Amino acid sequence: MSIVITGNPGVGKHTIAEKIAKRLELSIIDINKIARDSGLFEENEGVKDVDTEKLKKILAQKISENNLIVGHLAPYVLEKNQVKIMIVLRRSPYDLIAVYKNRKYSEEKIKENTGSEILGIIAHDAISRFEEKIVQMDITGKTIQEGEEKVIGLISSNEGNEKVDWLDVVIKNNDLRKFFAD
Ligand SMILES: Nc1ncnc2c1ncn2[C@@H]1O[C@H](COP(=O)(O)OP(=O)(O)OP(=O)(O)O)[C@@H](O)[C@H]1O
Ligand SMILES: [Mg+2]
Repeated sequence: MSIVITGNPGVGKHTIAEKIAKRLELSIIDINKIARDSGLFEENEGVKDVDTEKLKKILAQKISENNLIVGHLAPYVLEKNQVKIMIVLRRSPYDLIAVYKNRKYSEEKIKENTGSEILGIIAHDAISRFEEKIVQMDITGKTIQEGEEKVIGLISSNEGNEKVDWLDVVIKNNDLRKFFAD
């Protein structure tokens, strides 16, 4: 069974995964790269769609024991029996804005991506399919090294799930319009 790192775009999955892979001597399976290399991304009206059924099959052939699987699509393309632990990295939407601006995302794409982190869509979908195998970890305000240590701790103990509710934070800050208005 594999260790999996997932979460919203820009939370730091690949950055952390590279450190963890080195440390635990695992080889990274990058779901996005496999989807891209297999020609499974389709552009529909500017939005990238992926054939998850095909991706599931391709991944199943590639996965072995010593893998660290990374990608925001993980909850949709893996089966529970392939997963030892799935870590869902969470990061404040306020911090994600800076990551997306750095990536030169459009305002629309920024709202779409911060919105999905605020609503916790990936975390919700992951929990509904992988249940006790899911551990959420809030990486907000942590250095990359602190994040790495925390992930190592989670993997070795299988404990440390954090409750994350950005919606509550955003409402308290009176920022619903900032993230969700047109
Ligand atoms: N713990 C951290 N603290 C601060 N910045 C971080 C941390 N981890 C990653 N970053 C920065 O956040 C940005 C996004 O990280 P990264 O590209 O790893 O995200 P990702 O989750 O893999 O995104 P995607 O899903 O789009 O591939 C990078 O600029 C990275 O340097
Ligand atoms: Mg990445």
